[in-house]
Amino acid sequence: MCGIVGYVGARDVSNFLLEGLHRLEYRGYDSAGIAVLADGEIVIRKRTGRVQELAALLDEQPVTGTLGIGHTRWATHGAPCDKNSHPHIGGSGEVVLVHNGVIENYNQLRSQLQQIGYVFRTDTDTEAVAHLMAHHLEEQVKLGADVTAPATCLTALEITLRKLKGTYGLAVLFRDCPNMLIAARNGSPLVVGVGDGEYFLASDATPLIGYTEQVVYLADHELAILSPDGMEIRHRDTGRTSPSIRTLNQVSTDIELGDYAHYMLKEIFEQPNSIENAMRGRLDEDEATAKFGGLNLSSQQLRHIDRIVLTACGTSWHAAMVGEYLIEEFARIPVEVEYASELRYRNPPLNDRTMIFAITQSGETADTLAAMRECKRKGHPTLAICNVVGSSIAREADGGVYLHAGSEVGVASTKAFTSQVTVLTLLALFFGRMRHMSWQAGRNIIRELRTMPEHVERTLKCHDVVQEIADKYHRCSNFLYLGRLYNFPVALEGALKLKEISYIHAEGYPAAEMKHGPLALVDENTPSVFIVPKGGIYPKVISNLEEVKARKGPVIAIACEGDDRIADLADDVIYVPETDECLQPLVTSIPLQLLAYHIALLRGCNVDRPRNLAKSVTVE
Ligand code: F6R
Repeated sequence: MCGIVGYVGARDVSNFLLEGLHRLEYRGYDSAGIAVLADGEIVIRKRTGRVQELAALLDEQPVTGTLGIGHTRWATHGAPCDKNSHPHIGGSGEVVLVHNGVIENYNQLRSQLQQIGYVFRTDTDTEAVAHLMAHHLEEQVKLGADVTAPATCLTALEITLRKLKGTYGLAVLFRDCPNMLIAARNGSPLVVGVGDGEYFLASDATPLIGYTEQVVYLADHELAILSPDGMEIRHRDTGRTSPSIRTLNQVSTDIELGDYAHYMLKEIFEQPNSIENAMRGRLDEDEATAKFGGLNLSSQQLRHIDRIVLTACGTSWHAAMVGEYLIEEFARIPVEVEYASELRYRNPPLNDRTMIFAITQSGETADTLAAMRECKRKGHPTLAICNVVGSSIAREADGGVYLHAGSEVGVASTKAFTSQVTVLTLLALFFGRMRHMSWQAGRNIIRELRTMPEHVERTLKCHDVVQEIADKYHRCSNFLYLGRLYNFPVALEGALKLKEISYIHAEGYPAAEMKHGPLALVDENTPSVFIVPKGGIYPKVISNLEEVKARKGPVIAIACEGDDRIADLADDVIYVPETDECLQPLVTSIPLQLLAYHIALLRGCNVDRPRNLAKSVTVE
């Protein structure tokens, strides 16, 4: 949430800032702005709306300079409007900064600063930080420090940071110190790109692609002091630290739209590949198991585990639910799925045989990170299932598994979900083969997994049918999504996809729960999407479907190819290839993604940038 960029070096800064903000726009798109140090003055351009609005402003009023910062906003404090857009000025213009995070004690700071004469012009929490920094800079100068000296600015910033409660990723420029950019992190991610006589800064590595491959991920309580002459990384407690420079291996095609109309559609169609990538090198045919390089636990420790907690938010939480069913079925290990936002404040009785998996696409979700830290604090092995390499959760976990799904840019998660389910299937197989699962059963799962990319490719051929169905139902105001067993989490996920991008109210339920309340919602204008593939539970789901039909509710069925009976029962059918029951979510989730996409398009919604949302939720 909120994207930050920064640059110091020799090139003209505007292009990098603007392009970087475009690439980070998924983190927030309420407003965008930049500040550039030009001829000794801080020049700000900012505007409500998307980055393209800012680009138009910069066309009318260009600004040049070689030191600058930028921000794309997801509003937390204060409405999305020009005055609340970042960057924010401190004092009378001696400091300017952009911020990602939430300053919890901003009200108190604000009143203290107002009492000593600072005038607030915005409703944001960030402005208090800017004025506080200007105040401490002034205090330093009163003590005789040189305002143009980097050390003076650094001291003012360090004193300021000590007074902040909450989370921040900050990029700060000082008007009188023309060659220095400082970044500070506590809870909100920042990465420094290392160039030749130049440094880049961003909330994640995507803006750096094409500019540099050398990066330094800042840890909490670290500062980066950047100038064309070099970089210094400092930690609040230990002072100067030697940076660990890593190499990025992302390529620019990862974040290009290509021939697709939207990132969401591109990412839906990438799933045969992303699922393949999640499995690559991890299937061991001889031993009929899965193998992982990064769990960082001995086989003795792994055998010792008698309980697993999967923690996540949103779509990743739905993937965790599929994981619960898989691990309990394959390995007979009790699994609990916890919302990270709850787990971080709960105190469930975990013991030294409990293993935690934090599941996250971005690796930056604040609640997931906090839940993971809480479990680590109590000494439990805490692993991550994560997509973004080098993200906070990936770095702080004791070990884990990367999804290798490539960049997911669309705000609605699609390919990350199927990659998470794939990795959880591999983990279930791995734990299963360490315990009760037979060699033959393991081989059968591997065989089915190997066919999955092909099955998904075939599933995607339903695209035209889904489009027609979307056309028929896109004016409805309520939808129900119903499935059982492995397809219950898929129902939840289908409903979430629809509501987040089309703004239609949708609910997911286990199909048999309908008669305990939700059946009252059924009428001729409320479609029910039944996920009813072949399997042991099929006849039961069909009974649930008939109960809806009996009440005149339109039914859209997701069913297996060759199921002729369903066409007589449902109003519309989307066919998917038949596969093992435990792997069905990998195919049944795909028509639901496409359905949400097409309904949202027909309703004129921005599918990649749904209102009120941002992709990487770095605030609590
Ligand atoms: C929905 C969606 C969100 C995320 C959630 C967790 O389409 O994308 O619900 O799944 O914010 O994000 P990660 O997986 O990055 O922790």
